[in-house]
Amino acid sequence: MQDTLLTIDGLSAGTEDKPILHDIHLELGSGQTHVLMGPNGAGKSTLGHVIMGDPSYQVTSGSITFDGADITDLTSDKRSLAGIFLSYQAPVEVPGVPLYSFLRTICQMRPELKTTARKFRERVGQICEQLELSDSFLMRELNVGFSGGEKKKVEMLQLLLLQPKLAILDETDSGLDVDALSIVSRGIEAYRAQCDGTLLVITHNTRILERLDVDRTHVMVRGHLVAEGDASLVGEIDASGFSRFEDELAAKGGVA
Ligand SMILES: Nc1ncnc2c1ncn2[C@@H]1O[C@H](COP(=O)(O)OP(=O)(O)OP(=O)(O)O)[C@@H](O)[C@H]1O
Ligand SMILES: [Mg+2]
Repeated sequence: MQDTLLTIDGLSAGTEDKPILHDIHLELGSGQTHVLMGPNGAGKSTLGHVIMGDPSYQVTSGSITFDGADITDLTSDKRSLAGIFLSYQAPVEVPGVPLYSFLRTICQMRPELKTTARKFRERVGQICEQLELSDSFLMRELNVGFSGGEKKKVEMLQLLLLQPKLAILDETDSGLDVDALSIVSRGIEAYRAQCDGTLLVITHNTRILERLDVDRTHVMVRGHLVAEGDASLVGEIDASGFSRFEDELAAKGGVA
């Protein structure tokens, strides 16, 4: 039987004055690839942030279990150390912190990734080459002045370096040109192959899914997970959009 890596049970969450997610149930099996789709503003990024423990959001009910432990009240740095990674839809700029130092620091905090400076340098160099990202980025301040596509590649660099158990990729494909999309897709494939990682891919674009074996597709509308299916659901959404799901939710009275 497939081991379950992440279980979300009856989760409701939002900001102090705005409920956003309503009674979410989600199970990700170890090594599986899940896709989360939904219209703009549905709550997809919020779910990613809540799984990561972003303190901007409060959990009002329900629980999150990761790798057998209840992490509902854990801070995001502890979740990160436990093996959860969130690739941000809009990666933040961190002035004053060179990318290389940032990467070295986060790896040194993880016993399984601690290594000599020389080996670390080699590994980072290999990944940069794989992502066709110039070494010169390593000395620049984290994300400061990086183009949209460069920021997404830097998120991939972190993913490949950290090899987390669970990677939540929030529109990692958005804003990428055709070549960059192909490089990032290969990076995701490499992550899956290297460590049998589990993926939750949030996307509006089915191109990125072409290279991935999708196990389950989930649809979110107005903070509710309204449908779940296999990879064919992606094709249906591509062809017909979300109106069917929105109508079904409205018919059930779920218009919160
Ligand atoms: N920190 C916040 N403060 C106030 N409102 C928020 C906050 N975070 C999210 N929201 C609101 O919650 C709703 C869901 O936002 P979210 O970013 O999760 O949507 P999304 O499904 O990721 O959309 P998109 O496809 O456009 O990225 C939106 O109405 C958004 O404005
Ligand atoms: Mg979003």
